[in-house]
Amino acid sequence: MNSTRQTVIAGNWKMHKLRREAQEFCRHLLANLEEKPAASVILYPSFPLLADVATALDDPRVSVGGQDIHPAASGAHTGDVSGPQLIDAGCSWVLCGHSERRADHCESDELVARKAEAALQHGLTPMICVGETAAQREAGQTFEVLDRQLAAVFSQDFGEFALAYEPVWAIGSGLSATPELAQEVHAFLRQRLSDLVGPEQATWVPILYGGSVKPENAAGLIVQPDIDGFLIGGASLDPDKFLAIIRQAAPAA
Ligand code: 13P
Repeated sequence: MNSTRQTVIAGNWKMHKLRREAQEFCRHLLANLEEKPAASVILYPSFPLLADVATALDDPRVSVGGQDIHPAASGAHTGDVSGPQLIDAGCSWVLCGHSERRADHCESDELVARKAEAALQHGLTPMICVGETAAQREAGQTFEVLDRQLAAVFSQDFGEFALAYEPVWAIGSGLSATPELAQEVHAFLRQRLSDLVGPEQATWVPILYGGSVKPENAAGLIVQPDIDGFLIGGASLDPDKFLAIIRQAAPAA
């Protein structure tokens, strides 16, 4: 981890938790989080939980984000949620292009780009997710796929964002990428971002790793020079596991 960059530890709750469970999680998190955590902490609850979680986490140590955004500000789009609605619910971040949305809802690279643009337009920071499938990795297409996913979204003068590398084969599988493999990809992503958004922004942008991150493997990943934090699914549902990962995020002295 490069100590000049912001470290970000984010929990993606996906389609988990009911309101009471979310409230209990927030109470436990705030009661046990350091006064000045070494990382920025973000939670991405599902839409029905957002306002409750944002109210419960009215605390500068933790931010809240939506798991998706529609490109339009309002309109006839049943089941979708807009940027102004996310802001109104207390969000400052939003996930764009998570692989589960790309797969379950056929989201194209172009749609992900429009969602990221909408996020910036409405004052949300997009966390853009990229990653290859097992078949793409086995076919030697990893860098080509990532390059295509980045090129669709980023250009010069892009606003503030974070990038999350989530290899699809590592999500929910228990098979995290090794620190060496993840570092190789993160270094590639930063280099490509440098071409697309410019070297200065690419130096500062946090690039998070996601895919079976747990307290047991976080330390080996976070010391890699281009890994600036984590986007955590399963382990973020348990506040003690989430806290244990946050505590490993202290920048190297
Ligand atoms: P897991 O941590 O459960 O593998 O999920 C990762 C993820 O998809 C976070 O967005």
